[in-house]
Amino acid sequence: MRMYDLIMKKRSGEALTEEEIRYMIDEYVAGNIPDYQMSAFLMAVYFKGMTEEEIFIMTDAVARSGDMVDLSGIEGIKVDKHSTGGVGDKTTLIIAPIVASYGVKVAKMSGRGLGHTGGTIDKMESIPGIKLSLSQEEFFAVVNKAGLSVIGQSGNLTPADKKLYALRDVTATVDSIPLIAVSIMSKKLAAGSDCILLDVKTGSGAFMKSLDDSIALAECMVKIGESSGRRTAALITDMDIPLGNNIGNALEVIEAVETLKGQGPEDLTEICIRLAGNMLYLAGKGELPECIQMAKDAIESGKALEKLISMVEAQGGDASVIKDTDKFEKAQWSYEVKAPQSGYITRINSEACGIASMLLGAGRETKDSEIDYSAGIILRNKVGKYVEKGEVLATLYANNQELFKAAEDKLIEAFTIEDNTPKERPLILARIE
Ligand code: URA
Repeated sequence: MRMYDLIMKKRSGEALTEEEIRYMIDEYVAGNIPDYQMSAFLMAVYFKGMTEEEIFIMTDAVARSGDMVDLSGIEGIKVDKHSTGGVGDKTTLIIAPIVASYGVKVAKMSGRGLGHTGGTIDKMESIPGIKLSLSQEEFFAVVNKAGLSVIGQSGNLTPADKKLYALRDVTATVDSIPLIAVSIMSKKLAAGSDCILLDVKTGSGAFMKSLDDSIALAECMVKIGESSGRRTAALITDMDIPLGNNIGNALEVIEAVETLKGQGPEDLTEICIRLAGNMLYLAGKGELPECIQMAKDAIESGKALEKLISMVEAQGGDASVIKDTDKFEKAQWSYEVKAPQSGYITRINSEACGIASMLLGAGRETKDSEIDYSAGIILRNKVGKYVEKGEVLATLYANNQELFKAAEDKLIEAFTIEDNTPKERPLILARIE
């Protein structure tokens, strides 16, 4: 078999066979197919697409390129959740404890952020002492004891995806629905949970900017999950504006804790209740409306917050910062960004907010950038609010005052202020099962 022929076949719009797909992935991981040939293949997929059958096989081949985690050492139903990424997305820290408070296990491997989006692991690193790299035995022991654990991705999970993603990133082939579906679902299948809830973000801060594309991606991923024997569903949620008010690592953990105390912002609370309700539903805890009520109850009773504290303690972290968030290390400097004119806030561009937060030191410009855990942004006014010229739009936090100017410029660019009230946009745009 020759990679040249497979590129030619895909370029002509034909479907590859199972044997051809498995050969291509195995040989690519082994280093026998060069990046330039794989790049040509990815670009052919970008233009010609893939059949459902090809997508299922490629997902399986990529999942099996590394460790397939066997979670049978953890008792009970294991449920996983994946967000396609966004700005201010701290939902894992809220919904994993909610779900675990009902005995549904969450054994989750999360990623780091790159560019304008934040990663759950970076946020968790702001908790002093917490261990995010655990051996399999330690990971299982934490889940069996606390009911949940969130750790960094193990070294040998889907090596094919790591290579393919890095290549797509530099060859303008990231935003292809079949390639995103293969990438996300291969990791979820390899991570071993019984049920998978997908939070597909749509809007300015997301990979998928249009609702139609987001629905197509969600449908494709749900089919992959179900065809592999995992109960899978997806919610399409809004990422046209940042989720919640806080952006930045420690600031987001603080907001997650406030939400678990029932004092979180409305948008974040609502999305978390719906996501957690759907996870409980997939795990067979009842009908959807009942499961959504259970998610609300876990916040009100304080049970979900207790679960977060148990997880932090079981992973060696200092849970006193969760009990009293004033104990989180604070940035040395703060700066208020004021409205340049009066009017209604009609848009807050998520991507620009994410970049502003990165400019303050909260995110990574390159894979090896150091993160400042206390840096970030608190949005003081969101879409729909009328602000007077000079009113505070947001507070910036940093340990170096020189970073404020560039971040302020970027944040001002993120806000659209107009004379008319904006149209209401629902937080959850669709559900796919
Ligand atoms: N997230 C992933 O893990 N893979 C993609 O291709 C896009 C988003």
